[in-house]
Amino acid sequence: MCGITGYIGDNKTTDILIDGLRRLEYRGYDSCGIAVVDAKNRLYLKRVSGRVDALDKLVAADPAKGAHSGVGHTRWATHGAPSEDNAHPHTDCSSEVVVVHNGIIENYLDLKDKLLAAGHKFKSETDTEVIPHLIEEKLKSLHVQEKAVRSDMLEPVFFEAFRRAVADLKGSFAIAVVWARCPGMVLAARLHSPLVIGLGKGENFIASDVSAFLKHTKRVVFMNDGEMAAVKKDGVDFYTFQGKKTAREAVTIQWDSTMAEKGGYKHFMLKEIHEQAEAVENTLRGRLLPLGGDILKAEMGLSAEAMKAFSSVQFIACGTAYHAALVGRCLFENFGIPAYADVASEFTDRAKLMAPNTLVMAISQSGETADTLFAVREAKASGAKVLSITNTVGSTLTRESDYVLYTHCGPEIGVASTKAFLGQLAAIYLLGGHFAAVRGRLPGGDARRYAEDLLKIPRLIEETLEKETEIAKVADGFAASEHFLFISRHINYPIALEGALKIKEISYVHAEGYAAGEMKHGPIAIIYKGMPLLAVAPSGRTLELMAGNIEEAKARGAEVIAIVDQASQKTVKASRYIVLPSTDELFTPMLTVIPLQIFAYYVALAKKCDIDKPRNLAKSVTVR
Ligand code: F6R
Repeated sequence: MCGITGYIGDNKTTDILIDGLRRLEYRGYDSCGIAVVDAKNRLYLKRVSGRVDALDKLVAADPAKGAHSGVGHTRWATHGAPSEDNAHPHTDCSSEVVVVHNGIIENYLDLKDKLLAAGHKFKSETDTEVIPHLIEEKLKSLHVQEKAVRSDMLEPVFFEAFRRAVADLKGSFAIAVVWARCPGMVLAARLHSPLVIGLGKGENFIASDVSAFLKHTKRVVFMNDGEMAAVKKDGVDFYTFQGKKTAREAVTIQWDSTMAEKGGYKHFMLKEIHEQAEAVENTLRGRLLPLGGDILKAEMGLSAEAMKAFSSVQFIACGTAYHAALVGRCLFENFGIPAYADVASEFTDRAKLMAPNTLVMAISQSGETADTLFAVREAKASGAKVLSITNTVGSTLTRESDYVLYTHCGPEIGVASTKAFLGQLAAIYLLGGHFAAVRGRLPGGDARRYAEDLLKIPRLIEETLEKETEIAKVADGFAASEHFLFISRHINYPIALEGALKIKEISYVHAEGYAAGEMKHGPIAIIYKGMPLLAVAPSGRTLELMAGNIEEAKARGAEVIAIVDQASQKTVKASRYIVLPSTDELFTPMLTVIPLQIFAYYVALAKKCDIDKPRNLAKSVTVR
């Protein structure tokens, strides 16, 4: 939710800030803005209600002169509607202190009342605007009068005013701030909202995530909660909120900046759909053979003994990651391991009710989803160990977990998650295989077959992707439909949910995913003649039942598009088929989801929707 950029150095500040915002636009895109300090120490501020392209034009028409530091922001509205006034950066009364913020200031009404009483004038409806006014107030309390501060005291005074302001804030925040009178330093602070510092040569960067500055530097420091940074051209110092200096090591990011570009595809979503074989392959690489034993110990400290000792597994996640969690539940149950899956925001009292020695598996692409983090904290408070599955090195989730298994999907930019989902599934199958093997649920030859079948999945994903044109044609035929149903059973039931979610997100149509067995308990009533119904029906133990459910839907007029393999096609009677390569029933979700992603993509394309930036959504949901 919301993307922050900050820069200090001798290159063109406005270009760097705007380019960074473009790369963070997936985090929010209601409105955006930048503020820089120009050569005469004047604040240059441009904001628009709308996208970064519009901001770029505005800046090009009236460029800043000689700026060497500044901040930028792309917004996903929480407090206050998307508008230019509510767009960041926000300023104080003197228009010298300028702030960008991601998160929510929970005590902003209290702070605002006090600031109003002290004579401050507010220009927006946001919670953020209290921050520059609060800093202004702290500057006053440090006796900063008009031009009265000695120039060598500006930095310490600015730092102290910021530190005191931050101490008054409650909630979650990532903040970057510049003060026009002190252009040689940008300050930043983090509490429960991601913020990362990029270390360059004679220049430094601030951003919500590394993709904003990857083309300039790969050396980064992920800020900790409760940490502040004083970012100058030639160095960065880190402090606690109490002002105590801390020593931080930089890490080098392996992602390449071209990974975050479209590479000839019309949309990131389509590019990322095509990167799924690689995402699975990279996630499995070197971690699968032999199953069981201590193969994961060196990487994340999870020994075979520990895997044996857990009484049960509790998955928590949101959205698409929750659908991966549901697949995980079926898989672990299939191996006789008690497993549960909950939407993180509904975990609530369950943390206290988990069986002793439950392993919590938290799944999150970003590792920053507030609901998931909150549920993880609840689980830890109840004494559970947490294993997180995430795509984001250095994310908050990784730092709050006992064990971390990274998916190696590369950056996912499209707001609708695709390759991250496949990476999550690969990680779940990997863990499921190891857990089952150490618990004697995959003896000898079975473990070998499981691993071999899993290793074939990337190739089968490639084969499935070859059906793109065929699936696109089917999608085109239904692009005018306003209602879609998705049904399946058992391990593919979560895929029905995911198919419905994908099309809702990017096409804004009504779609429902159902456990096929539930249809006649109510939802079948909504079927009308010609209603598209996508039925996921690969070979396996539920096929006969699925075939029956499809008949029932057809009898009520549904136009059935069946996702089948060659063998199951013989059992299922549908108007159209998408025939996938065969694999063991257990692994089918890694294939069956692909036609549903492609279907959703082409329906959205025909409807001319903004596929990579769907309305009302943001990639990383850092508020609860
Ligand atoms: C859907 C989608 C969301 C995310 C959810 C969790 O396409 O992207 O439903 O899956 O917001 O995000 P992470 O995985 O970052 O925790």
